[in-house]
Formats: sequence, structure tokens, C-alpha cells
Amino acid sequence: MKYLHIHRGNPLCGVVKVPGDKSISHRALLLSALASGMSRISNFLHSHDCLATQACLQAMGIEIEVDQQNNDSHQLSSFDDFRSSLKVFGQGLHGLRRPALMLNCVRSGTTMRLLTGMLAGQSFDCILTGDRQLLRRPMERVAEPLRHMGAKIDTSEGHAPLYIQGQRLSGIHHNLAIASAQVKSAILLAGLYAQGTTTVRIPSPIRDHTERMLSLMGVKLESRDTLTTLEPTDSLSPISREDEYFRIPGDISSAAFLLVAAIIIPNSEINIVGVGVNPTRMGLLDVLREMGANIRVEEVASNSAVACEPIGNVTGRASALRGVEIKGDTVVRMIDEFPILAVAATQAHGSTIVHDASELRVKETDRIANIVSELLKLGATIEPLPDGFIVEGPTPLKGANVSSYGDHRLAMALAVAGLIAEQEVFIEDIECINDSFPGFVQIMQKLGADYE
Ligand code: S3P
Repeated sequence: MKYLHIHRGNPLCGVVKVPGDKSISHRALLLSALASGMSRISNFLHSHDCLATQACLQAMGIEIEVDQQNNDSHQLSSFDDFRSSLKVFGQGLHGLRRPALMLNCVRSGTTMRLLTGMLAGQSFDCILTGDRQLLRRPMERVAEPLRHMGAKIDTSEGHAPLYIQGQRLSGIHHNLAIASAQVKSAILLAGLYAQGTTTVRIPSPIRDHTERMLSLMGVKLESRDTLTTLEPTDSLSPISREDEYFRIPGDISSAAFLLVAAIIIPNSEINIVGVGVNPTRMGLLDVLREMGANIRVEEVASNSAVACEPIGNVTGRASALRGVEIKGDTVVRMIDEFPILAVAATQAHGSTIVHDASELRVKETDRIANIVSELLKLGATIEPLPDGFIVEGPTPLKGANVSSYGDHRLAMALAVAGLIAEQEVFIEDIECINDSFPGFVQIMQKLGADYE
């Protein structure tokens, strides 16, 4: 589907699942490929971004099979298209083969940055490339610390294509300038191959999925406050034990769109089950609660051997909101949620002010410029700041033609905004939703959204 027509409609109600977590799906594939033996993964996110990671690994000789055996009874059968159980046949830390062609990361920044760390210490050369959107994103942030480890990486004026010549690496002590989980993960992946200890200090708490998974696989790794220490290793255990699955929780960043829809559409209530509730990803929920939202989180499994991530059920109910100020560490814990936060803020009483979020300018698109321009078309009172934005509310939204600019999170945020607009909203270019949330339109329709 290329376009979406949205009509204001009924309350949204129901119990749903969202597809598997994108960050965890990437890592599960990448690390399973390096393990000594087969890993089974369930609820893998079958999205464009994760399929880019899968294709890159296959191009380096890793066999990945759909596991037909797994009938996960917790899944809703009508959403079959996005769920997937995989078998990944890991070849060990030194089992990747030189790819015959350039590795195409398509639009996935996580694929490119994590692969850069993983490939810096191999015994072959390769080139990482991607589509126009990805070629605009900054890559020195990952190349530079890896060079301190001995890596040879050429960027194209700071961007991909990246030419990586595999080298012997040495451990480093690195203070991250930007609170980026992708950069931290790239350094840790390179650290697996390095001589000596690697330590990374982060400026504020960021998602820790790589660390959790590496520990599960037997790596000597310690995380204390803002410092992570990793020892190199000769081998990684598979991420699942025999006959078990590494179960990927639902993506809290996808659940965010449903949650905000429930909160801003009168008389709505949505319960999202089986979603990841890792504290490093819960910034939006904390902020929405501070804004007055009625949200309940019930943790159902914590640090289980199969998932190594806390999982919970999250319920959102229609609520009156008030504006808040968001800055500092909270920003990092909700870095992907600002487009949908901006939509919620249009319905809050008073000002919502976002600071310390200049990273939004180098996401899939410039999310500050684009959410501001598109919400202005819908009648919101919003203005950009160099490192965030200010929204004044509440404002009734009106109909308009808006664009996603090919950015999945912008497309879904606008698709939620359209449900409270007084006239019809038309969004161009919604194919990109498949980068992270295949099935979004169908799930929203099932909950009662008037989308065509
Ligand atoms: C991600 C980290 C974040 C986030 C991205 C996924 C990850 O990026 O925005 O969607 O999986 O590590 P940064 O590391 O650039 O902040």
C-alpha cells in the first residue's frame, strides 16, 4: 500500500500483540551467526530493516532457515505475515566468509553500524552500502572509535559506502561522546575479536540488548552504571538452548503508536501483550504518565533464560494530558518515540518542550524538521528548536495531505494523528512502515481505526 486515507472514527479498543523488537531481532541474528552452533529464534521481526541484516549474513555464508515447526500459541493468527521463527546456523567467531559483492544494508542504520564493528576484526575486506536515506547518515561516529582499536575503515566523507579492511584489533577504553547504542554495540562486537579488555563509558543509560545477549552467550561482560567491560573470547554459545527458542519480545517502540492512540482518542482502551519492558526503553511511558496518561504495565517475565529481557503487558486508556518538559537522560530512553510524542503533545494542555534531542536530526530523516512541518499542516501549534521542539496545546487537528518522507516512525505518528483530525487525512508514502512494523495498518483496523 502506497497511500493511507484516514477518517476520524470510533474509539480504539482491544487486546493485541505487536511484532518482535527491531533492535533485539538485529542482534539475535548477528550474534547467532557468530555462535558455535545452531540458535532458534522465535517472534523474529520480519521487517525490511531486519531482512537487510539477514541478507548481509547470508551473503557471508550464514545459513538461516524459517523454522516451520514453531506454532507459538501466544501469537494472533491473523498477524501471521510478520511473525517468524528462525534457525540460524552459527559458524563461530571466525566462520564468516568474504562476501562476493558489497553488503547492502538498505535503510537500516542498525545493520550498518553493528556490522561495521563485527567486520572490523575479520580476516577479509568488504564494503557496506545502503540506499539514499542511509548514505546520508553519519558513520564517522562508529568508524572513529574502531580505528582506535586498529580497524581500517574508510568512509565517504563521513558517510557510507564504508570500506572495511579486516585487521587485528586491540581492546580500548572509550568514552562515548554520543549516547548511541549502535556505536556502543559496534565497539563491543569488535571487542570480541580484540586483544585485551574493551571498556566503554556512556554519557547516559542507553539500550543494553547487546550486553544482555552477549552475557547469555557466555561472554565475560560486566556493566556497572555507565561503564561496560568486555573480555575477548574464542567462542560464543548459541543464544537458545537445545529445543528452546530465544523469544523476542514485542517492540515497545511499535507499541508506542498504539498506546498514544488509546490515550488521545476518547473512550479508547488498548492492551498490548508480550511487549519488551526493558527500563532503557521506557522513557515514553514515564513521560506520558507525567503528562497524566492512564497507563498500566504488568511485568510477566523477567530475565528469563530464553529471552534475557523483561516482558510485560501494557495498557493505555483515554486520558486528559498536560504539557511537560523533556530533556537529559529521558530523551535517550525514548529516542525513537518523539514523532508520536509530538502528536500526543498537540492534545495536552499547556506547553510540551523537548530539549537535548539533536540526534533526531540524523535519524532516518530529520525528525525535528519533518514532524514540525507535517503537524503544522494538520493545524498543530508546534515550532522547531535546534535540539527539539515546542508544542502548545490542546489544538483540534484538521484534514490535510501529509508526507512521511519515507520515515517509518513519521508515517505511523501521522497515521495516529489522522484519527483525531476533523477532516480526512491523506498520507503519502507509507510503504516505509514495513521497515519496522509490518501489519501496523491491519492491527489498527482491527482495533477500530478507519483506514483505507
Ligand atoms: C538502536 C539504537 C538507536 C535507535 C535505533 C535503534 C539500536 O540509535 O534510534 O532505532 O538498535 O541500537 P542510536 O544508537 O543511533 O541512538
